[in-house]
Amino acid sequence: MTLLGEDLRGKRVLVTGSSRGIGAAVGTAFASLGARVALHGSGGSDAAAKLALALTAGGTEVYAVTGDFRDPRAVESAVDAAVQALGGLDILVNNAGTMVGRVPLERIGDDFLDEVIDLNLRSVVVACRRALPALRAAGGGAIVNTVSISARTGGSPGSSIYSASKAFVSTFTRSLAAELAPDRIRVNAVSPGTIDTDFHQRYSSPEKLAATAARIPLGRLGTAEDCVGAYLFLASDALSGYITGQVIEVNGGQLMA
Ligand SMILES: NC(=O)c1ccc[n+]([C@@H]2O[C@H](COP(=O)([O-])OP(=O)(O)OC[C@H]3O[C@@H](n4cnc5c(N)ncnc54)[C@H](OP(=O)(O)O)[C@@H]3O)[C@@H](O)[C@H]2O)c1
Repeated sequence: MTLLGEDLRGKRVLVTGSSRGIGAAVGTAFASLGARVALHGSGGSDAAAKLALALTAGGTEVYAVTGDFRDPRAVESAVDAAVQALGGLDILVNNAGTMVGRVPLERIGDDFLDEVIDLNLRSVVVACRRALPALRAAGGGAIVNTVSISARTGGSPGSSIYSASKAFVSTFTRSLAAELAPDRIRVNAVSPGTIDTDFHQRYSSPEKLAATAARIPLGRLGTAEDCVGAYLFLASDALSGYITGQVIEVNGGQLMA
């Protein structure tokens, strides 16, 4: 029996949206297990570069790539940069995304619709397509997509397009899992519940968050670190080599179905 996570040592991993929040926790965990990691941020701050520097100082090989994922060409460039820096790719974690705004139906303009779809949906398709030759060249690998509890519940008012974009990624995950199984590429997703990151500092009031926490069976909001185990598990062939096309819910019991 391989030690837990031992097979991730030396793996080449791109985690998109890893300048902060869930992605930063996931990228840090991969690096701590000896994986070679490319972190990614939109380019709006140097947070991914700073985290890469700190992790490299800890003795692991970590790079930072940038790209505003509302632009499909920037997604392709970020994947290319990661593949080049790492010398290939074994694991792709598609995590970059955000709600963009809480907008009720009558105020949803075409530009808003495009932005939410480009960032949360199109970027995942484009990243998978661009990474595929490298994953095939590696002889197989793993794709782990970040979806959301709102993909199944519909989320709360004003989040319809974001929630639907995550539902698209859930279904895309299952379909791609069947398509890429012959290539020995497993495709799964992690579905976080309400996780206390910058995301909710932007889109949820303290009162809304307190009310949500009170309804969660485990009695609190999730943390970015709470999500990490599901990503490592789904990335590790030793731990989940016979699992593909699945969505793991990480939500403290917020949704049980
Ligand atoms: N927090 C939750 O409760 C929750 C629940 C379900 C699902 N999720 C999903 O989990 C993922 C991570 O969320 P989080 O809570 O960790 O949020 P976060 O702290 O706001 O981090 C979002 C990450 O996505 C990147 N990103 C945002 N806009 C981008 C753009 N235009 N181009 C490229 N990258 C961009 C950010 O990069 P910069 O720092 O450069 O902006 C950052 O690394 C997202 O896909 C989110 O939808 C979150």
